[in-house]
Amino acid sequence: MKDTVILVVTGSVAAYKSALLARRLMERGLLVKVAMTASAERFITPLTFEALTGLPVLRAGFPQSGQAPMEHINFSRGARLVVIAPATANTLGKLAHGVADDSILSMLLACGLPVMAAPAMNTQMYKHPAVQSNISTLAARGVTFIGPSSGSLACGEEGEGKMEDVETIFAAVMEKLGGVKDLAGARLLVTAGGCQEPIDPVRYIGNRSSGKMGLAVARVAAGRGAEVTLVAAHMEPSLPGTGTPEGIRVIRAQTAVEMQEAVRQEFVRCDILVMAAAVSDYRVESPAAEKVKKKSAMRLDLIENPDILASVALEKGDRVVAGFAAETEDHLASGRKKLMAKNLDLIVINDVSRGDIGFGSDYNEVTLLTRDGKKIEIARATKDVVAGAVLDHAAAIWRASQAMEQPEAS
Ligand code: PMT
Repeated sequence: MKDTVILVVTGSVAAYKSALLARRLMERGLLVKVAMTASAERFITPLTFEALTGLPVLRAGFPQSGQAPMEHINFSRGARLVVIAPATANTLGKLAHGVADDSILSMLLACGLPVMAAPAMNTQMYKHPAVQSNISTLAARGVTFIGPSSGSLACGEEGEGKMEDVETIFAAVMEKLGGVKDLAGARLLVTAGGCQEPIDPVRYIGNRSSGKMGLAVARVAAGRGAEVTLVAAHMEPSLPGTGTPEGIRVIRAQTAVEMQEAVRQEFVRCDILVMAAAVSDYRVESPAAEKVKKKSAMRLDLIENPDILASVALEKGDRVVAGFAAETEDHLASGRKKLMAKNLDLIVINDVSRGDIGFGSDYNEVTLLTRDGKKIEIARATKDVVAGAVLDHAAAIWRASQAMEQPEAS
């Protein structure tokens, strides 16, 4: 039996994003039942949600004679939680004061479920003491608020009040649900961190990778039930890279050659490989055995390192292989080139020239390209959220390849 989530859509320009949220929740195997206020229907039609979810939408009007009279009570039975996205000042205000003047508010008051809300409104409205007081009242009663974020609003103003990004709402809902083990049975091999190539016993050639992105992929995958092996190069000291994050087997690898050895060994028993590590393309041909004495100039002879991803992807069989592309220019073209040249199923392109995402940051913003031509943009979000999206797409490719292999039922 699938877990059920109630998605309440209220009247805001952001209502169109609820359709994307419904789809994301369904992609994770959830049943999504949608309820719409009357004003939500002025922005998006119930038909859109009925077509997406395959289920009837609960609408605001009270039942007419001959219709099921208790639908506002029965609608939420068996569901795990309610998410109101977008949540307008009007609906939040009514909910805070126990107003039940339509089927949707009646359902919200009667459901007894955990409620999450993603507010969307004009900045001044959001900051209004009445709205803030309603939000505090609801938060004190256990409603979890997701956002809002800041940005340019539909009214043309800039500021707080923008509905949080769909991926962030989706991740918050999934976290609240907990225990959705949709990756149970999948064996994930993940690389993280920056390779270091020794010059001598004290110096090395390295890069700015902290390991946060790869660790997020490993952690999120393990949380979703996958069996995870993490091949970790240099990680930021504050990360649990030197210990073993719960549920994840860690293999340390300092150099590209060490990482290649570990990846090749583990690759045979994985279903999905995600290479988020920043691998050095070159290494010092002959590292010095002793510390090189200081002199006015130093010349290093570098030789090319093996391309780990390309070498394993050659023999990938039905495994799914995903790489990251760290780009500073021509992002899409360079990423697409790597996708094809390295024989990958999926590439995750990030702009490493930006300070607010990528290397060292807790955030990332990526474009996913798949081998079969899909392009998916993930707006700036925490690395956990980005990791979740990468895993969703990698797992979808894996499941599709598995389904193709299943013999037809007789
Ligand atoms: O670790 P963080 O601080 O969180 O930063 C995250 C990140 C920016 C390092 C990460 O998001 C990222 O972009 N990782 C890939 C870095 C990289 O090496 O990109 P690339 O475009 O040079 O390589 C493309 C792919 O080939 C990568 O999956 C890389 O792991 C792989 N590769 C590269 C060179 C090589 N010799 N062997 C490889 O397997």
